[in-house]
Amino acid sequence: MSGPRIVEVGPRDGLQNEATLLPPEIRAELVDRLAACGLTYIETGAFVSPKWVPAMAGSAEVFAAVKRRPGVTYAALTPNLQGFGAALAAKATEVAVFASASESFSLKNINCSIADSLERFVPVMDAASTAGLQVRGYVSCVLGCPYEGAVDPGKVAGVAAALTQAGCYEISLGDTIGVGTAAAARALVLRVSRDIPAAQLAVHVHDTYGQALANIAACLDLGIASIDTSVAGLGGCPYAKGATGNVATEDVVYFLQSQGLARQLDLPGLAQTGGWISSQLARANASRAGRAILSKAGSGEVAAHGEP
Ligand code: HMG
Ligand code: MG
Repeated sequence: MSGPRIVEVGPRDGLQNEATLLPPEIRAELVDRLAACGLTYIETGAFVSPKWVPAMAGSAEVFAAVKRRPGVTYAALTPNLQGFGAALAAKATEVAVFASASESFSLKNINCSIADSLERFVPVMDAASTAGLQVRGYVSCVLGCPYEGAVDPGKVAGVAAALTQAGCYEISLGDTIGVGTAAAARALVLRVSRDIPAAQLAVHVHDTYGQALANIAACLDLGIASIDTSVAGLGGCPYAKGATGNVATEDVVYFLQSQGLARQLDLPGLAQTGGWISSQLARANASRAGRAILSKAGSGEVAAHGEP
């Protein structure tokens, strides 16, 4: 059993909001270390305006420096045709577009309305189809918006359906500010999967209120395709003040492996990588499992369900 795919977003969603800006060679090393742990989908960078998100400047250099492994998808976030062109030139192997379920967040994040953003993606989808690249779609603010508060699940389903109709093969449901709880997350996936099969849905949860893993657990039996995670729980969103990073990859893998899933992933290696990138950023490692594994490794003990 392998269970849902892990989509590692640390090098993009994670690093985009860190106070320390890392040079491309360190970002590429992060990608390489993650791939060496068995991850097969790594969001490697973003071709967005460097004025808007300075931490993602140099994404072309990151892509150029990565030592490509067969079977690994190196994806890029692309807000418009200009970003898509740059991603294609950098040999990204997949791209992602991102819309919001909240009008206010859409304006703050990409400077246009939801409807305009969906229109802006049409030429990106066309160009991706011509280039033979798959496109993943994100919907942000699915369980709450920093500017509007509660978000109607029906609105999320509408934006997700629009992205699917435009050609996205998978929709990642983003709790951008990490306010969701288990019951709401499950209800949302059930609502969206009335229109889109759960096998085309991903959950992308930030851990602001410490609910991320509980939210994933609540959705695991619904047949979701992917779980987005970030090593060491890096990051946040530049347009969502106070939002913390994504759920940590190590925490999710520890949880999945206890159920016989994701066994192909090297959990001690992920913990090492989380510790390494945290020290590069001079920040605390936000992965509880990562910290536990690293401290047990130091003392020679083993983790609870037998992982070294
Ligand atoms: P704009 O200012 O409205 O765009 O920004 P514009 O078309 O008027 O262009 C203005 C300038 O930006 C021009 O340069 C363009 O060349 C340049 P100037 O002439 O002033 O020198 N430009 C670009 N530069 C590099 N790459 C590009 C690009 N496009 C235009 N692709 C834009 C519109 C979308 C570009 C801007 O708003 C932007 O880059 N926003 C970044 C948003 C972002 O990256 N947010 C974080 C990621 S989303 C997220 O984290 C949520 C997610 O994780 C899911 C979740 O958690 O829910 C996915
Ligand atoms: Mg995010």
